Amino acid sequence: MTSVTGTSASRLTERRFRGVVMPTGSHKAIRRVKRAGHEPSIHGTKLWKSSFLVIDYLHKNPPEFCKTVLDAGCGWGITGIWCAKKLKSSVISLDADPAVFPFLSAVADLNGVSTEPMTARFEKLKKTQLTGIDLMVAADICFWDELVKPVGKMIDRAIDAGVKQIVIADPERPTFHQMAERAVRKHGGDLLEWRVRGKVDASGALLVINNA
Ligand SMILES: C[S@@+](CC[C@H](N)C(=O)[O-])C[C@H]1O[C@@H](n2cnc3c(N)ncnc32)[C@H](O)[C@@H]1O
Repeated sequence: MTSVTGTSASRLTERRFRGVVMPTGSHKAIRRVKRAGHEPSIHGTKLWKSSFLVIDYLHKNPPEFCKTVLDAGCGWGITGIWCAKKLKSSVISLDADPAVFPFLSAVADLNGVSTEPMTARFEKLKKTQLTGIDLMVAADICFWDELVKPVGKMIDRAIDAGVKQIVIADPERPTFHQMAERAVRKHGGDLLEWRVRGKVDASGALLVINNA
């Protein structure tokens, strides 16, 4: 299911998972971006494991509508990059922190695709900017108390704008559950336990809302 390359386990430079290359911080393409002085400051500092959960879910449950995808709080952007590569989606990679985009670009290059970077905060994202998006994906974006309301309201606006499916993964932080339980009460949907095993090991919860 996965393969690992690098000189040794202690110098792992990349993983392959579900058809995408996922570089670690030691990968030469990533080291080059760091050397250029880019320093994300809101935790967009690596590929977080929750992205494995979204990718695995979408691999096992191919979305019916995925022509246009928004990866919200993209960080280095692997979830959206997977959609661009495997679903042939046109992807907007959104983050509040523009310092993540050189990393996004390096990861996209390694995968032979590109996505459109967009600097915006969840709380400022308007319904009109969400109109036309088929699928919203996100991984590990509800990690502070201050994010519960902005992420919940972004979901409300996405549903209002006609986004057809929302898939958000999390390592099960209480803040995520607070946000997700409200979203399910308001819009329906499922909260799923999810686990990926193998050379890549990740577990957590997925919020899946269908709005088609
Ligand atoms: C833990 S990282 C996860 C990154 C990526 N989704 C992944 O799984 O590798 C959280 C990301 O959310 C972004 N973020 C945090 N608060 C945000 C906000 N209010 N609006 C937009 N992006 C935000 C951060 O800059 C960071 O890139």
